[in-house]
Amino acid sequence: MTTPRAQWGSRLGFILAASGSAVGLGNIWKFPYITGENGGGLFVLIYLVCIALIGLPIMMAEIFIGRESQCSPVGAFRSLSKRGSPWILSGWLGVATGLFILSFYAVVAGWSMHYIVLSLANSFDGKSPDDINAMFGDVASSASINVGWHLAFMAITIAIVIGGIKTGIERAARILMPLLFVMLIAMLIRATTTSGFPRAFNFVFGFHNEDLTATGVLEALGHAFFTLSLGMGAMITYGSYLKRNDDLVGVSLAVSVLDTLVALLACLVLFPIVFTHDMEPGSGPGLVFQSMPIAFSQMAGGGIWATIFFVLLFFAALTSAISLLEVVASYFIDERNWPRWTAAVVCGGFIALLGVPSALANGGAALFSSDMAAGPIGKDWMTMLDDLTSQWMLPLGGLFIAMFVAWRVGGAAREKGFKNGTRFSAMYGGWVFLLRYLVPIGVLAVFLNKIGVFAKLGWM
Ligand code: PFF
Repeated sequence: MTTPRAQWGSRLGFILAASGSAVGLGNIWKFPYITGENGGGLFVLIYLVCIALIGLPIMMAEIFIGRESQCSPVGAFRSLSKRGSPWILSGWLGVATGLFILSFYAVVAGWSMHYIVLSLANSFDGKSPDDINAMFGDVASSASINVGWHLAFMAITIAIVIGGIKTGIERAARILMPLLFVMLIAMLIRATTTSGFPRAFNFVFGFHNEDLTATGVLEALGHAFFTLSLGMGAMITYGSYLKRNDDLVGVSLAVSVLDTLVALLACLVLFPIVFTHDMEPGSGPGLVFQSMPIAFSQMAGGGIWATIFFVLLFFAALTSAISLLEVVASYFIDERNWPRWTAAVVCGGFIALLGVPSALANGGAALFSSDMAAGPIGKDWMTMLDDLTSQWMLPLGGLFIAMFVAWRVGGAAREKGFKNGTRFSAMYGGWVFLLRYLVPIGVLAVFLNKIGVFAKLGWM
């Protein structure tokens, strides 16, 4: 390659972009509803332990691979092992996972855009809960709304990725992430004034473990991968635009803490509203698009708060989608020498097409929704892709990444790389230990649970 590799403008730029990738629908949409379904408290604690002992070490491993190799995933595994090594398959797995995730992620992000328009038009005002639930049903099952917003969202994502590392991705993160924090804090301050706040606080941080099952524990572990954008090389790719002496431990800590903070704050924004309006915390995926609008319909200035909330959700989704597309596009840029423009448009266009069945999976077309759910697969297209990626592909990718760094990369190079430019050198031994033993055991437990081994043994 003749041109020097693009780099982040600053360490803060990297932290904002990487936490932009991590903070997404996973934090604001998924984490609160799975916390609700698993009864709060203890689930939250277990999630925090999973982030610290499994997520954080893998994040460091990914950034290590990217920063050392200065390559996107496929090239990174090749350059740190050797040509033709089977480890390169992990890079391919990452590209495929990015493609699949973005295809359905963009559909949910599209809903957030549609809900911004509904909020601006004050459409929830004075509506009954039944009306609002029905409204979501209409949105989810409308082919034109879903496909239209999905394509619009993909077009914005492609435009930012075309802009490149410093002037596209980093600039977007520098604008969107601070705005996201301001909106979240504004909503939090408002939430503290509601009557449901103390109950919500207790729900999230108090122990009343009666609802937590062993499956919930494994769900917390699985979610740790998704929420930190781990297991598919997003952090390898972003890490490859760091300088070799940038502090990999410090940035990983910063990104993990920011991501966790946003997930907890999202709970403290959503649950007070849920409790104030006497709703069910365990209502599932509809929490954001049904329970929240119901609450907005009953509150003073609801249209404004609803707009802020859905803009926040849209920004969070956008900075994550950018990283998903960057993983796929950077393969073609680095390995096939495609111009960035071509790579972003071709990959983004392909993902947009691949996303159409997901856009039709909630009633838009029977083939991808009810027919599919009634068939041998037993779920609609979007749920199938979501389950396949977050329950199988990401943990598998994370396992490969951990094993690669723990067992394949030479010890001296690993130690030197880890300690390069960091104040946290003392964490080295613990990092390798976790990658070698705890990560594989944790991921295997998730898989054994998935194929029903624990159930057969009567453990759950
Ligand atoms: N971390 C994102 C979220 O929590 O919504 C989702 C995600 C983005 C997963 C990028 C994986 C990834 F590579």
